Amino acid sequence: MLKLAALVAVTAASAASAASAASAASAATSVSSASSTWPTTAPNSIEMPSITQTTSLDPNVECQAYTAPEFPLLYDSKSFPQPWVTASVGTNTSAEFQAVYNAIDWSKAPNIPVRKLLSSGALNFTGYDQDEDPDCWWSASTCDKPKIPGIPADITACPEPETWGLTYDDGPNCSHNAFYDYLQEKKLKATMFYIGSNVMDWPYGAVRGLNDGHHIAVHTWSHQPMTTLTNEELVAEFYYTKKVIKYTTGVTPLYWRPPLGDVDDRVRWVGMQLNLSAILWNEDTIDWNAQPSGSLPQSVVEGLYESYIEMGTNGTFAHSGNIVLTHEIDNTTMSFALDYLPKITAAYKHVTDVATCMNITHPYVENYVHSTFDSLTTTNTTVNAAASGNASAIASASATGSGTSSSSTSGASTTYTTSLLSVALVAVVSMLI
Ligand SMILES: *[C@@H]1O[C@H](CO)[C@@H](O)[C@H](O)[C@H]1NC(C)=O
Ligand SMILES: *[C@@H]1O[C@H](CO)[C@@H](O)[C@H](O)[C@H]1NC(C)=O
Ligand SMILES: *[C@@H]1O[C@H](CO)[C@@H](O)[C@H](O)[C@H]1NC(C)=O
Ligand SMILES: *[C@@H]1O[C@H](CO)[C@@H](O)[C@H](O)[C@H]1NC(C)=O
Ligand SMILES: *[C@@H]1O[C@H](CO)[C@@H](O)[C@H](O)[C@H]1NC(C)=O
Ligand SMILES: *[C@@H]1O[C@H](CO)[C@@H](O)[C@H](O)[C@H]1NC(C)=O
Ligand SMILES: *[C@@H]1O[C@H](CO)[C@@H](O)[C@H](O)[C@H]1NC(C)=O
Ligand SMILES: *[C@@H]1O[C@H](CO)[C@@H](O)[C@H](O)[C@H]1NC(C)=O
Ligand SMILES: *[C@@H]1O[C@H](CO)[C@@H](O)[C@H](O)[C@H]1NC(C)=O
Repeated sequence: MLKLAALVAVTAASAASAASAASAASAATSVSSASSTWPTTAPNSIEMPSITQTTSLDPNVECQAYTAPEFPLLYDSKSFPQPWVTASVGTNTSAEFQAVYNAIDWSKAPNIPVRKLLSSGALNFTGYDQDEDPDCWWSASTCDKPKIPGIPADITACPEPETWGLTYDDGPNCSHNAFYDYLQEKKLKATMFYIGSNVMDWPYGAVRGLNDGHHIAVHTWSHQPMTTLTNEELVAEFYYTKKVIKYTTGVTPLYWRPPLGDVDDRVRWVGMQLNLSAILWNEDTIDWNAQPSGSLPQSVVEGLYESYIEMGTNGTFAHSGNIVLTHEIDNTTMSFALDYLPKITAAYKHVTDVATCMNITHPYVENYVHSTFDSLTTTNTTVNAAASGNASAIASASATGSGTSSSSTSGASTTYTTSLLSVALVAVVSMLI
């Protein structure tokens, strides 16, 4: 139970960071009075404030706490839970939470027990039939096909051949500028599974994730093993993470990833009541557990990266793709990303986020069109400009009716026209070739 041992470390790091954020918060009010009318519907592009944290490449500067005047409710204890505590604490008696909770028909909830942790922090599997696996409990069996009706199977791999599904958990990390700059420069999109507490602490980091065209998804409020939480706690962990992402970026995710992969049919069912479907993975780099903050020699993680990279050229993924579990969590994991992405993009035909590889054009509640797999194979300069999130290039591409199919930042006006436009784009491209 390596995973849960590290959870403790992660939680400790987070608490330390939250504490330093709190102590520095009063000193960090140099943000000028920016617009208080940030979009509440899906934005095309949100202007980032010019504070050093959003542009510096020095982790110490990036991680200086700030307050975001655009988002006053982040500092209102009635609107959001405290960061890094179970999201129901202090919120579960509010009218807002009660309304969300009571809108769910609990008589239909699966009758599956709340799991317990051993004193070591590992899950207690005693008494659970891991072979029969009645509850499709991933931690016990890596089950990803629910055994109760009406719940979609977890997404675990990009279906297209030679495709690396790029996913990063635990962001937005305060020190992600060098990493996000690299992704932006190489026009790479990833699915970013954001922790609600990190969005609270680093809201501009989340704004940048959306602006850069990444696929934003939920990674819960406080990053705990979800099968150990009560239904009420689950609702709060899901609801407030969706709410803080919506409040800061303008979009409400429809996908989530369970911390540590710890999901069973009860947790999946509660997620679905909040319109969240689960995305897991089929290759794990264990990057989060690398030294110095973790316990594994870096060579172990490097070996896993190398073998998944080799699989891109030796036929393993000739007929399907993967989804790889990697982390935004700290400098160590983001440095692995910068070291290996050149090799990954050389070894795989396609490297992309999960919404793109699954053709999920609407990964959010709002009308906001995300790119489809097609966009990766019809690349040209116009398309690339749009894919980089360049608003003026997108506007001109829209005006000429070409290129918008790949634009993950295209707004409501192009909603539902993606497939038609992409057909048109293919036609234009093939005429020109
Ligand atoms: C709210 O959550 C706390 C634990 O965080 C729990 O003790 C309490 O019973 C909950 N209140 C209600 C009304 O469910
Ligand atoms: C683990 O679960 C079993 C079955 O519920 C229980 O009997 C046992 O006491 C638990 N172990 C610990 C250490 O809590
Ligand atoms: C889930 O989606 C349905 C259909 O769009 C909507 O009616 C419902 O309000 C949503 N539920 C929640 C909790 O957001
Ligand atoms: C491809 O590489 C992987 C990782 O090194 C290895 O496990 C697998 O056996 C290789 N497959 C083939 C067909 O060589
Ligand atoms: C973000 O990364 C920095 C290292 O660059 C690390 O010190 C910090 O703890 C991380 N924050 C969180 C919340 O994990
Ligand atoms: C890691 O930290 C160093 C400075 O300590 C910084 O120069 C480097 O850009 C960071 N790497 C990433 C990927 O953020
Ligand atoms: C995505 O769309 C492309 C083009 O229409 C198609 O070839 C591919 O099979 C689709 N993939 C999925 C997962 O639906
Ligand atoms: C991409 O499309 C544009 C306009 O449709 C065209 O002018 C350009 O030549 C194309 N580029 C490539 C590399 O096909
Ligand atoms: C955005 O696209 C426009 C139009 O193609 C171009 O003139 C401009 O230089 C681009 N800006 C950036 C930052 O790439």
